[in-house]
Amino acid sequence: MKIITADPTGLCFGVKRAITTLENELKKTHQVYALGSPIHNPQETERLEKLGLIVVDSPEEVPEGAVSFVRAHGVTPEVFELLRERSAKMVDGTCPFVKTAQERAKTLSQDGYIVIILGDASHPEVKGIMGYVSGEVHVLASAEAIPYELYGKRCGILSQTTQRVENFSALVSGFVSVSPEIKVYNTICRATLARQQSVCRLAEEADGMIVLGGRNSANTRKLAEIGSCSGVPTLWIEHAGELERGWLENKDIIGIAAGGSTPDWLIKELIQKLKMM
Ligand code: F3S
Repeated sequence: MKIITADPTGLCFGVKRAITTLENELKKTHQVYALGSPIHNPQETERLEKLGLIVVDSPEEVPEGAVSFVRAHGVTPEVFELLRERSAKMVDGTCPFVKTAQERAKTLSQDGYIVIILGDASHPEVKGIMGYVSGEVHVLASAEAIPYELYGKRCGILSQTTQRVENFSALVSGFVSVSPEIKVYNTICRATLARQQSVCRLAEEADGMIVLGGRNSANTRKLAEIGSCSGVPTLWIEHAGELERGWLENKDIIGIAAGGSTPDWLIKELIQKLKMM
């Protein structure tokens, strides 16, 4: 059996930067409050909790005078301010690419466009971006979802950073036929794009593809979708322990891809298990 790892794969620049900053802070203060899991990966979150991380669901749960942490997904300006007011120190791990998307949304809104975000309305990154819009905003899951009320309106379009390029192109094309004026910012991040392309390439030579990453990770989900859509049997697992020998039967070349929130140690564990099998 031959094992090929997608290139690039695993932790993206933004998550790596955020987690390194968080870990350095934990080493100094031994207690940091994060609003939501700092990374969409339960195994890595558990490791950080052992170092003193405390995950809370709302800014009000951060005790006055504590050290707080904003994850790579970012937050709304209101939440950002609230955390800053309550905390003795606030560590901002917002990914610079997410910050760009937030700024673009703000500018489009200020320029009078109805803001359209391609993405998942329940995702924290999208909620954060929406917070920067002062006027009308719509989150659409696909090109098919353009509501009739937007026909004939000036629309400013951007994307959740982890969306598939094909979906964004389809949405923009959809607006070309219904809107007299559109302004488009491509806010899909390069790390996402590179990981998606690496899965496409790998799917051409692999007999089976293992996608490694948290079930709550949007970008891992996209990689698993690409693997499945390309016709290669694709298995999405969170950790090596979920891999069963039976799945490997009749597969000579196994491709491994990992989401942008999957730490290297989980990838190494999986490769080790595959070699043992
Ligand atoms: Fe940032 Fe892109 Fe990662 S937006 S958090 S580098 S997937």
